[in-house]
Amino acid sequence: MFEQLKALPTDPILGLSAAFARDENPDKIDLGVGVYKTEAGDTPVLDTIKVAEARLLQTETSKSYQGMAGNMAFNQALQALIFGDLATDSRVNTLQTPGGCGALRVGAELINRARPGANIWVSSPTWANHIPLLGSAGLKFKEYPYYDAGRRALDFDAMYNCLAQVPAGDVVLLHGCCHNPCGADLSNEQWQAVASLAEQQGFTPFIDLAYQGFGDGIEQDAYGVRLLAATLPELMVASSCSKNFGLYRERTGALSVMGTNTASSGVAFGQLQNIARGIYSMPPAHGASLVQIVLEDSQLRRQWSDEVAAMRTRIKQLRQDLAAALADCGDFDFITRQRGMFSFLGLSEAQVVKLREEHSVYMVGSSRINIAGINSANLANLAGAIKAVL
Ligand code: LMR
Repeated sequence: MFEQLKALPTDPILGLSAAFARDENPDKIDLGVGVYKTEAGDTPVLDTIKVAEARLLQTETSKSYQGMAGNMAFNQALQALIFGDLATDSRVNTLQTPGGCGALRVGAELINRARPGANIWVSSPTWANHIPLLGSAGLKFKEYPYYDAGRRALDFDAMYNCLAQVPAGDVVLLHGCCHNPCGADLSNEQWQAVASLAEQQGFTPFIDLAYQGFGDGIEQDAYGVRLLAATLPELMVASSCSKNFGLYRERTGALSVMGTNTASSGVAFGQLQNIARGIYSMPPAHGASLVQIVLEDSQLRRQWSDEVAAMRTRIKQLRQDLAAALADCGDFDFITRQRGMFSFLGLSEAQVVKLREEHSVYMVGSSRINIAGINSANLANLAGAIKAVL
């Protein structure tokens, strides 16, 4: 049976970690997979998560099944984090999922049940894994223009003009903040324009909120989601605790669905549980229990918010440092105007290969870099390597 299968290329993002691990150069630099790193190059467990783990060890009394929707207290806490004051609206329901990927996948399955073979519009470019996650559910892709590689910025006019043609019933995937891969985000005014357009056209936004807190702040980064939720009859949000709680390997995320009324939202929630049952039955408990503990304890929550702020501030500083280090070989100021973990350097695929093969600098083939992989020990080498291939 397996002889019929064709060998596949390695994953364009996760495959970089294995290649980096094999590289014996002691000065190698990893700007590949999007994980936060400290100045020392580590990805430590957050202090607040360590406290929550100790507490969970003491208080957990059962490992029995939790059910298809996962931990309902976690779902409520995360719903409040995402939706703010709108979280108590009975039209919103949240399902715990195995990471943000799980949320995207069950969300795509829900769309396909509601509207088989529906069109989903994705930004050009979008996160590489959006395509398999959404496509495997049977959705059809259309693209809207987003990043202008020449100006190294969002081309909002082109985006707007394209979305103005999207018919009612189609779904538009939006990055809630910290666009992956380009780091160019919508301003609040641009979110307002998108909200009006969605209302006028009748398309349904599906928002990927994987980096809440890594852009301008935990509340600020939810501006777009909350505005659309306040304006529109329906939307979906895929959220992730991988980055802001540092729970990468615990696969902790959620899918929130807002329906036109309480009844339709309840039906969608029931469908989601049935979808989960058919794919993985129920999500893993550990990460969600930790998030619940942190968000329900006001002191821990404050400390967690400080930890997120520290990660955000460090990334912003690294953006400044990189732009300054490259200032004598071009205008890299656009990096300081972008948000979150990623930016494109604007290099060709051949230059990216050269950086990897000749300088042991690892980044995605599109020249997307994980800003958090930079530190004061590798910045000069990195800048030197980039200049050498430019
Ligand atoms: C990334 O974009 O690097 C991260 O979201 C990790 C992943 O799963 O691709």
